[in-house]
Amino acid sequence: MKTRAAVLRETNTPWSVEEIELDPPGPGEVLVKMAASGMCHSDEHAMDGHIAGLVPPAPMIGGHEGSGVVQELGAGVDWLEVGDHVVFGFIPACGRCNSCAGGHSNLCDTGLATFPQGTQMADDTYRHHSADGEDLGLMCLLGTFAEHTVVNEASVIKIDKDWPLDKACLLGCGVVTGWGSAVYTADVQPGEYVAVVGIGGLGSAAVQGAKMAGARVVAAIDPVEFKREKAMEFGATHAFASIEEAQAAMGDVTWDRGYDKVIMTMGTGDSSTLGQAFNLGGKRAKIVVTNLHSTAEGTIEIPAIMLTMFEKQVVGSLFGSANIRKDIPRLFELYLAGQLNLDDMITKTYSLDEINEGYQAMRDGENIRGVILYD
Ligand SMILES: NC(=O)c1ccc[n+]([C@@H]2O[C@H](COP(=O)([O-])OP(=O)(O)OC[C@H]3O[C@@H](n4cnc5c(N)ncnc54)[C@H](O)[C@@H]3O)[C@@H](O)[C@H]2O)c1
Ligand SMILES: [Zn+2]
Ligand SMILES: [Zn+2]
Repeated sequence: MKTRAAVLRETNTPWSVEEIELDPPGPGEVLVKMAASGMCHSDEHAMDGHIAGLVPPAPMIGGHEGSGVVQELGAGVDWLEVGDHVVFGFIPACGRCNSCAGGHSNLCDTGLATFPQGTQMADDTYRHHSADGEDLGLMCLLGTFAEHTVVNEASVIKIDKDWPLDKACLLGCGVVTGWGSAVYTADVQPGEYVAVVGIGGLGSAAVQGAKMAGARVVAAIDPVEFKREKAMEFGATHAFASIEEAQAAMGDVTWDRGYDKVIMTMGTGDSSTLGQAFNLGGKRAKIVVTNLHSTAEGTIEIPAIMLTMFEKQVVGSLFGSANIRKDIPRLFELYLAGQLNLDDMITKTYSLDEINEGYQAMRDGENIRGVILYD
C-alpha cells in the first residue's frame, strides 16, 4: 500500500515527508494506522548523527514514541484484533530472551540486536520502501513518523479502546523512561533529595516520578525559564537555571548533604556536565544517566576517588528500567486516576508535514513535548 512518512535522507538535513510503499505484515507482524507520535530528542540525535551506529543509516523512517489502531494482522498474531488500540514500546519485548525472562524487557536481546539495521526482527528484511524502491530502515524498529507502519508484535502493547491515543503515545518512550529513571533506576525513596537535570519530555516525567516516590526535594535544573515553571507545576520543589546555581544553593536545600539521586535527562549528555552533576550527589548518591551522550564521546571523566570515599554510583538507564507490558498500562491507569499529568506534557501538536517545525521548537526550548497527530 502507499502511505506517507518522514524520512531521514541524510544526516543533518530536515526530515523529508514523502510517499512510501508499505508491504503487508509478515508472520508475527502488525500493520498499524498511526494516531499520534511524540517527538523525542532521540530522533533528533538520529538526525544530527550523535548516535550513529545505534540507529539505521539513512535513508530511514524516524519516530519511536507512537500509538495507533491495528489495521491488519500477519500470520500467527492471535492475541490482537483489527481495530485494537495499541502503544509501541520503543524497545520490543520478545518475552523469551535472557533479559526479558529476567524481568528486564527494556534490555530485550532480540530487539536490541536489530536496532542498528532497523530491519524487521523476524527475518532481517524491510517492509518499508521509498517511492523508487529503496529499502527504508526504521527508528527503533517502529518508524512512527508515518501514517501507517508495520512492526513486530513484540513492540506492541494493547491498551483500552477508551484511553485517549494522543496521550497514550507518550508512554511509548518519554514518560515511561523519565518516570522509570526516578522510580526504578534511581529507586527514589520517601524523604530523599532528588535533582533532575533537563526538563523536556523525559525530565518532566522524572520530576513526577520522583514526587510520586516521596522525594522531599525535587530540584529541576534547566536553562529555559518556561521549563523551570512547568517543572514546578509538575511537582518540583525548587528550580535552578544551571548545575552551578543548584550547587550554590545546595547548603540550604539539602542541609549540606548533597542530593541522594541525580537524574540526567538533558538533550545531549556530555562528560563535563556529568562531572558537575556527579558533584551534586552526596554520600551514597546515585547518578542516573538517562540522556544519550554522542557515540563519538568515547569516555567520561569523573573523580574516581569520590566514587570510593562517598560510595557514589553512576548508572545508566534504558527505557527507565521498565517492563513495558506491565508499566505502560500501569502508568496510563495513574493518568486516569489523576496522579500522573500527561495533559500538560503536550505543549503543541503538529501535522506530519509540520515535523521540522516541531523539531525547531524543541531546539528553541518551546515544548515540553511536541506531538504529531494523524487524521
Ligand atoms: N535512556 C533512554 O532510554 C532514553 C530514551 C529516550 C530519550 N533519551 C534521551 O534523553 C534525553 C532527553 O530527551 P528529551 O526528549 O526529554 O529531550 P528534550 O529536548 O525534550 O529535553 C531536554 C532538556 O534539557 C535541557 N538542557 C539542555 N542543556 C542543559 C543543561 N546543560 N543543563 C540542564 N538542562 C539542559 C533543555 O533545555 C531541554 O529542556 C535525550 O538525550 C534523549 O536522546 C534516552
Ligand atoms: Zn525516545
Ligand atoms: Zn526479549
